[in-house]
Amino acid sequence: MTIRPQQVVVLPSVMSADMANLGAQLTALCAAGARVFHVDVMDGHFVPNLTVGPDFTAAIARTVRPLGGMVDVHLMVERPGYLLELFAPSADAISVHVEADPHIHRVLGEIRRLGCAAGLALNPGTPIDAAIELASRYDYINCMSVNPGFAGQAFIETTPDKVRRLRAALPEEIWIEVDGGIGTMTLSSARDAGAQWLVSASAIFGHDDPTSAYRHLAELAA
Ligand code: DX5
Ligand code: ZN
Repeated sequence: MTIRPQQVVVLPSVMSADMANLGAQLTALCAAGARVFHVDVMDGHFVPNLTVGPDFTAAIARTVRPLGGMVDVHLMVERPGYLLELFAPSADAISVHVEADPHIHRVLGEIRRLGCAAGLALNPGTPIDAAIELASRYDYINCMSVNPGFAGQAFIETTPDKVRRLRAALPEEIWIEVDGGIGTMTLSSARDAGAQWLVSASAIFGHDDPTSAYRHLAELAA
């Protein structure tokens, strides 16, 4: 499978996985058809939460790549450009926030130079103008549907309208990821607006049976 989506896919966000049972959960999700795994990296500055670093991402990659999986790293950190070389070996795609680096044009170029798909992430309050300006510099948009920092937040209902505006303004080859609050009640609105990568943490790992929750979302997405 190529990183460029041919169809709409659901990305399990491992932030809410059972960390003591992570390998088994990832293996089961791969067996159920999951192919892109989303890893949320938070620095306690850009967002008010701390999560994981490159060793964790490498462990995810070691688990899912032999099973045909890929790793999408979402850097919610200030000055992400300084961290790219640490994450690139275990990432297939990396998204960085336009709000987090004054030299985002250069940072996006660096992601591609390191061999990963480059993603531009937009906070819910960020207008789409910079995404249009930078369109030749990245492969996908991460259109945040919650304010980044925590899993389990409600989907911001103006997101589908923003996705539609992005879809209309961006070249066809750029794909759109929607991140936050995706579950059975919200998935179709993001998909119908034009998103291809639908990220979900709580609706999968908050369920008693994450694999069947994933399967259900994947069926809704198809
Ligand atoms: C939020 C993260 C999301 C998060 C989604 O800051 O970027 O990827 O894991 O969690 P849910 O699906 O619970 O909203
Ligand atoms: Zn994320």
